[in-house]
Amino acid sequence: MAANQSNHASGTGQAMRKSRRAAGMIGAAALFLLAAGCHKKHVHAASMGAPPVSTIPVGPVPGSPHNSWPMPANPYQGNAMALMQGRQLFVQFNCSGCHGGHGGGGMGPSLRRRYFRYGHSSAHIYSSISEGRGLGMPAWGTKVPQNDIWKLVLYIKSLRTPQEPDPPRMPKQPLIAPAK
Ligand code: HEC
Repeated sequence: MAANQSNHASGTGQAMRKSRRAAGMIGAAALFLLAAGCHKKHVHAASMGAPPVSTIPVGPVPGSPHNSWPMPANPYQGNAMALMQGRQLFVQFNCSGCHGGHGGGGMGPSLRRRYFRYGHSSAHIYSSISEGRGLGMPAWGTKVPQNDIWKLVLYIKSLRTPQEPDPPRMPKQPLIAPAK
């Protein structure tokens, strides 16, 4: 029977096959559209999730260092009480555990240097603390209130300035014999 049918493969048979192929193609197109639709929905769902902790870009921004994105100012600028609290938070949150008791460096980089890999403006330091940095800096933005982050920023910016609270005391170093 089957052989018989294929022998009469003119006219209706070919048309049938053609329309079946067309149906297949429409099916494939529909599947593709469905998949595309699903993908779009997924992206949409993600963008509807929790708002970002901050809108400051993570990491160095390519191009000119003077970007057009607004640099928020520290709301505690010039506030001596907040500066003291920043020092306390630095110890309480154990920033000192990685960055050293006075931010002089340890497992984490020194924060007393002039050079900051991710920028030294208040906004950049805020971003480093809030969002974390790739090579081992945890993100604190979901755990620490924004006010406390700004106080930490104030403290870090004060390092090595006359305003630094509780500055490190130079240890009295024992004399050593010069190497021969
Ligand atoms: C687990 C160890 C660890 C802890 C705890 C930690 N940091 Fe870091 N931090 C790092 C490391 C490592 C880096 C370098 C990350 C990199 O280069 O990508 C870093 C980077 C930074 C930077 C950016 C430095 C730069 O050169 O731009 C700042 C600012 C900073 N930390 C502040 C803090 C503050 C404030 C706290 C406490 C809330 C803290 N860190 C707690 C390990 C730590």
